[in-house]
Formats: sequence, C-alpha cells, structure tokens
Amino acid sequence: MAEFIALIPAAGSGSRMGENIPKQYRLLAGKPMIYHALHTLCSITRISTVCVVLAPDDAEWARHDWNEFSGKIQIFNCGGTTRAESVTNGLRALRAGNYAQDQDWILVHDAARPGLSTTLVERLLNQLEDDEVGGLLAVPLADTLKRASDTGRVVRTEPREQLWQAQTPQMFRTKRLLEALEKASASITDDASAIEELGYSPKLVAGDAYNFKVTYPQDMELAELILRERIATRK
Ligand code: CTP
Ligand code: MG
Repeated sequence: MAEFIALIPAAGSGSRMGENIPKQYRLLAGKPMIYHALHTLCSITRISTVCVVLAPDDAEWARHDWNEFSGKIQIFNCGGTTRAESVTNGLRALRAGNYAQDQDWILVHDAARPGLSTTLVERLLNQLEDDEVGGLLAVPLADTLKRASDTGRVVRTEPREQLWQAQTPQMFRTKRLLEALEKASASITDDASAIEELGYSPKLVAGDAYNFKVTYPQDMELAELILRERIATRK
C-alpha cells in the first residue's frame, strides 16, 4: 500500500513580505505561520510523515517548541535557492532516509498557506488516491482578467473560462515528482508544472479561498482572522 507523505518547503526568505524574519515564522494567532499547516497535516491519520525543508542557515525553527508533532515530523536543513530546489532536495532526503518509496504519494504544501483545512486535505486524498497521475487543489478564477501594457493601461480583457488558480497541497508519486523536478525548466513555480512538462495532466481538485498564500504584508490581517476563528471553533 502506497503511503501518504507531506513535504513542506519552508526555506524561503519572504522578500515580498519585507520583514526581518522569514514570513513562515511571523506570528499568526500566537503561533509561527508554519505551525498551522503542520497542525493540519499532522492531524490527518492517513499521512504517515510530515517532512519540513528548512534553509541550511535557518535561525528560527529552533526557537519554538515542536514537541506536539514529534513522532510524525522529519526536519531537513536542505533548502535551496528556489522553491523547486527546496522540494527536490527534500525528496532526495526522504529517499536517502528511506522514508519514501517510489510509489508513495507526496503532498507538497507551502508553509505560507496556513489556512489549509483538514476537509481540503481529505478531499484531495479521496479524489486522487486511485488516480494515475495525481493533482492539486485549485480554485476557479472569479475576477475578470485584464492584460496590462507597460504603462499600466488595459490592452485587452482575457477570457477567464476554464482558468484556475493553483494552490497546494500538490500530490504526486515520489519517483515521478523527483524525475519531473530534476528535468524541469528553471521558470516553474509549482510542482504540477514540472509534471505537466513530462506530458501528464494533473487533476484539479476544488480548494477554497481560506487556503490562500500569504505573500504581502496586507495578507497577514486576513490570515490572522481566519486562524483565530479556526482555533476558536476547533475541539
Ligand atoms: N520556499 C522554499 N525555498 C525557496 C523559496 C521558497 O522552500 N528557496 C518556500 C517558502 O518558504 C514558502 C513556499 O516555498 O513556504 C512558497 O514560496 P513563496 O510564497 O514565494 O515564499 P518566499 O519565496 O519565501 O517569498 P518571496 O517569493 O516573497 O521571497
Ligand atoms: Mg518565492
């Protein structure tokens, strides 16, 4: 039986957030941002291991107490200069440590998406466990799309039919994901793109707006509201 393993790339610097500590450690509802995704992924019984990829020079992880997740998490200080490199290095570490076999499922999830719910993870697992390729959480585009000129004026309105915004987790088999990332072009910004470059079509599974990526300073306020509410209604 294939296992389900989560991999959280958390080796970014959060340059668009523009703070002195990487955004995955900014506090949300009293906890470092990464705590929230860890809590969700560790609470899914079918997920056997949650691997966290930190930057080699990470100075923040050790400042916090992660004991409640012990037994389920594996920490690797092997982050790279891009997200794809951090995921690739994490996959190599999982294989080297014999934590992941070729056919095991890997769920790659951004540390910067603290609003992930157990409902979404369960939906992803249920819809993809028998799938040939795998897939990702995503939401259909709601806003009208404008193509801009260099001077910030509308060139044209782009059709939005059949356009989706990719989220994470993105779920693929260990061997194929590693092969895809090792061959991928430098410009890819998610795992599915690497799989697509191999000629496969990942499945789109409905995510939700709470699972947005915290990127800019103004995103912190919304994330704080969502997580406070989530924690208040937990248990
Ligand atoms: N990430 C990573 N290694 C990198 C770059 C990013 O592990 N070299 C991780 C981030 O820590 C984050 C996820 O990939 O959990 C999504 O990346 P993003 O939101 O772009 O975060 P940052 O790269 O840290 O932010 P920015 O692009 O604004 O610098
Ligand atoms: Mg980035």
